Amino acid sequence: MSSVPGNIVIVGGGVGAVAAADALRNEGFDGNVTLISDEVSLPYDRPPLSKGYLSGEMSMGDILLHSLEWYAENRITLTLGQAVTSIDVAGNAVVLANAERVAYDRLLLANGARARLLPGIPAELSSRVHYVRTTQDADRIRTQAIGGINGGKRAVMIGGGVIGIETAATLKQLGCDVTVLEMMPSVMARFFPVELSQMLATIHADKGVKILTNIGIESIKAAGEGVVITLKDGNEIPADLLVVGIGVIPNAELGSDAGLKTQLGGIEVNGFGQTSSPNIYAIGDVAAFPLPDGSITRWENWTHARQFANVVVKHMLGKEVAPYAETPWIWSDQYDFNIQVTGSSEAQQIVLRGSLEAGRLTAFHLQQGRVAGATTINDSRNKASVKKLIEKNALVPTDQLSDTSVDLKKLAAALG
Ligand code: APR
Repeated sequence: MSSVPGNIVIVGGGVGAVAAADALRNEGFDGNVTLISDEVSLPYDRPPLSKGYLSGEMSMGDILLHSLEWYAENRITLTLGQAVTSIDVAGNAVVLANAERVAYDRLLLANGARARLLPGIPAELSSRVHYVRTTQDADRIRTQAIGGINGGKRAVMIGGGVIGIETAATLKQLGCDVTVLEMMPSVMARFFPVELSQMLATIHADKGVKILTNIGIESIKAAGEGVVITLKDGNEIPADLLVVGIGVIPNAELGSDAGLKTQLGGIEVNGFGQTSSPNIYAIGDVAAFPLPDGSITRWENWTHARQFANVVVKHMLGKEVAPYAETPWIWSDQYDFNIQVTGSSEAQQIVLRGSLEAGRLTAFHLQQGRVAGATTINDSRNKASVKKLIEKNALVPTDQLSDTSVDLKKLAAALG
């Protein structure tokens, strides 16, 4: 492994890939950077696909991560609309769908994940089942919601995760009747303790979105120009517009086919993002990485992809850097609610500070009486203090956490 690379190749066109290109130039790397994405469009931000872009408030121009000029000014070579089909590890090159070879000194896999497809959909119905992964997906859903069959009037979301719940809120705002079908007992269970999932479900119910939990799907059949979904309990739910958000599958095959080690369905990396082949790194949804306690995890979120990119780039360039050790943080926008979750989503006890009625709410997630995580709803102003309480695993009397007259900054500062 040479100490100063000349050619760095990034595979992927999402936020992690672009954050890495940014970081390379910010760190003063002067060599060649090539970013290869199988999407034809310039790299764009995905979170708006279920929110502002879907609603029509944002355009493609609004969601681009950088303009075309930026890539030219920063000498980032863009290869768009080309999939990388294999990695020649011994030859230090990637091979594209058009058989072209691109040589690298360091390779970064930031090729993310793909939507998990709903099983059991007959091929002739596949055009009636939508996913939310690309701008084209969102364009099709929006067209259907505002002008398709019955104006997409009866919209059904399968999956009550982040995609399902955010898309449900947006489709409601576009005038659809919306039903969410979730197989677990509560929605967004990956992100929230159950009490907060229930609070979220109430927010949606108040807006008129129907959420059915613990459901099983028996079949989906064509009905007119739409579909009818038969549940295991025998209920039939007709839909003019059907959107599925049942999770993602990491695009790990590119790495695993090349012999890279895998973990948790992703590519195994160390705390610097380095795979089992030292010149190849991975970040974002596709990377399974170690936490400071040594356990292995894989996070699917925007902030993580960006933060890990900074560590990985420094390591690639041979700079001093500590292994990745971030506290997880995600956000979601639904109606007028900005929801943020920091730290662990699990809680033995929830302590509420403020209330939805009062317009601001922070819910502390306690484990063994200590602050392990927090959810804020329209209350991110104390973000730094809340993060510190979590990182210090603070043991604070619950009446102090819940008392809005107690200054969280002071509480956090007292932790040193
Ligand atoms: N029927 C109904 N619900 C299902 C089914 C099914 N067959 N299979 C899975 N689900 C539910 C899960 O219980 C979960 O609540 O779908 C939801 C999937 O939620 P997420 O894992 O959050 O995935 P999704 O909403 O598809 O988001 C995909 O985009 O923004 C990113 O971080 C996000 O990685 C996530 C990705």
